[in-house]
Amino acid sequence: MSQGKRALNFNAGPAALPLEVLEQAREEFVDFGGTGMSVMEMSHRSKTYEAIHNETAALVRELLGVPEGYDVLFLQGGASLQFAMVPMNFLPKGKAAGYVLTGSWSEKALKEAQRLGETFVAASTKDGHYRRIPGAEEISFGRDSAYLHVTSNNTIFGTQWTRFPDTGSVPLVADMSSDILSRKIDVRQFALIYAGAQKNLGPSGVTLVVVRQDMVERAPEDLPTMLQYRIHAKNNSLYNTPPTFGIYMMGLVLKWVKGQGGVEAVERRNREKAGLIYKVIDDNPDFYLGHAEPTSRSLMNVTFRLPTPELEKEFLDGAKAEGFVGLNGHRSVGGCRASLYNAVPVEHCAALRDYMVEFRKKHA
Ligand SMILES: Cc1ncc(COP(=O)(O)O)c(C=O)c1O
Repeated sequence: MSQGKRALNFNAGPAALPLEVLEQAREEFVDFGGTGMSVMEMSHRSKTYEAIHNETAALVRELLGVPEGYDVLFLQGGASLQFAMVPMNFLPKGKAAGYVLTGSWSEKALKEAQRLGETFVAASTKDGHYRRIPGAEEISFGRDSAYLHVTSNNTIFGTQWTRFPDTGSVPLVADMSSDILSRKIDVRQFALIYAGAQKNLGPSGVTLVVVRQDMVERAPEDLPTMLQYRIHAKNNSLYNTPPTFGIYMMGLVLKWVKGQGGVEAVERRNREKAGLIYKVIDDNPDFYLGHAEPTSRSLMNVTFRLPTPELEKEFLDGAKAEGFVGLNGHRSVGGCRASLYNAVPVEHCAALRDYMVEFRKKHA
């Protein structure tokens, strides 16, 4: 690709990163801050790396609004390892954990928990092909449940929670892999939040966990060392070698978010971006068939089909020829999906809107 030309990248993850971030990383790639070393070549015990590490954690706290009493952890193993770590740490014998099923990732989280303890389905919208998020009245769990698990944004089906259930004293755990830092949330509502980095936070390889300290302290101490939140919390995520370059990249992305005006400004832009694409769907309801019910629509992943597989293929082939990347739906569901994470520019969304409008006209 020629210098400066950027793909119209709508990948679902790993996904687009801000150009400014990539350029700064390139600038510092071989010699970080006059050290004569790349961040990748530094000891994770060095002062220089420690500063990067702590600054990244501080930015997570600042931008997400993480209150006192919570730990910010950088782990490995992706969100998929959190599917297991959450029940290992928080699902004791004699208790059951509730899972709200809103898509394939929540199903996977439940499956993993089922290997480790007692679980129940607190609500599911599977019967309606995961077109919506359940209402509060549909979710049932006992006061003595170990925790309630939700997937805040369903990457594959294109739905997103707008209001999280009030679980009272039952800890609420959320997989926020595909919408972390895309909108304002109240961290106090959650006992634990986890997110693989590769959508809104940086490259794959780092998993962000924000966890309430009293939960960490309650967890069993006989788990394998690396699977205990306690160990990572006590050691500032430096028990072993962390994914240093990924954490550095996350720091750059967080600084970029701050420079954009913080999460509120990013959320406003995300609403504008998603609005451009949903408007085409709403204006052409017989041609672009949106998967999500309008009240459950995701700002991050817009999913839709066309009236026939042939038209879908023509749409996707044409998009590819025009430089759009990543518009195929997930292999498990087909159709089309545009992922509009934080770093996807408004202009790229406008280009997609224009392509959709033109394609519709051609097939009127
Ligand atoms: C909502 C959600 N949860 C979990 C995962 C799995 O993440 P990882 O590949 O980091 O294990 C994904 C990946 O796309 C996701 O979108």
